[in-house]
Amino acid sequence: MKPITISSLQAMKSEGKKFACLTAYDASFAKLFDQQGIDVLLIGDSLGMVLKGQKDTLAVTTDEIAYHVASVAAGTENAFIMADMPFMSYATIEDAFVNAKKLMAAGASMVKLEGGEWLSETINELLQRGIPVCAHVGLTPQMVHVFGGFKVQGRQQSQADKIVKSALSLEAAGAQILLMECVPESLAQKVTESLEIPTIGIGAGKHTDGQILVMHDLMGVSANYMPKFTKNFLAETNSIAEAVQKYKDDVASGTFPDKEHSFS
Ligand code: KIV
Repeated sequence: MKPITISSLQAMKSEGKKFACLTAYDASFAKLFDQQGIDVLLIGDSLGMVLKGQKDTLAVTTDEIAYHVASVAAGTENAFIMADMPFMSYATIEDAFVNAKKLMAAGASMVKLEGGEWLSETINELLQRGIPVCAHVGLTPQMVHVFGGFKVQGRQQSQADKIVKSALSLEAAGAQILLMECVPESLAQKVTESLEIPTIGIGAGKHTDGQILVMHDLMGVSANYMPKFTKNFLAETNSIAEAVQKYKDDVASGTFPDKEHSFS
């Protein structure tokens, strides 16, 4: 196996091959996921919820993410490592430089930022300095208090139009991956077909180029609750390795996510 790069992910999109991503926070799980052929490992700010038991992701710090990036990197040989930039860590372009540098130095190959068109300048400035960016749209959990809860985004036409417009602007600004969370399947399909860059979905239906799950959800373990779009793969397999393999196979074949795990 060769290390996964942004070029490999781009090639998979071009060839119509779906890729599988998982969150990871430590070396042991990272090694297992890597050995099962998971393409992308995200050190998500979801760690605030699944590791620390908090109600949202807002209290997570860049140093916490950097600590977990270093742990994941220590266990990973081939997977592409992406790190979340936490709430307010990219409030200004200067903040974005300082904090993204910490995450890249800890072992990330890309940083993920939540937001729409307003991120364009930040993304472009990061890219110019060698920091690749994944832009995260739809249900962006750092906006939970603006949205009034963890709610599906893009069901109204005006919201959907805004997401399409943001996606195009973010790609034009230099984003190299677009992640869509909790949006209707048809909207995620439209965005995926409109962009050259690969898309990753969570609660976004089966038409995105890649899928991602929070690792605890794949195993049916959660300090909070199991959202509708997640699936406990461990329930139908005999080990964590088998559960991860089944997830990867189901993503590759387009079996996961099905209608039950998608929004319309
Ligand atoms: O923080 C996270 O784990 C994420 C995924 C849910 C995509 O952003």
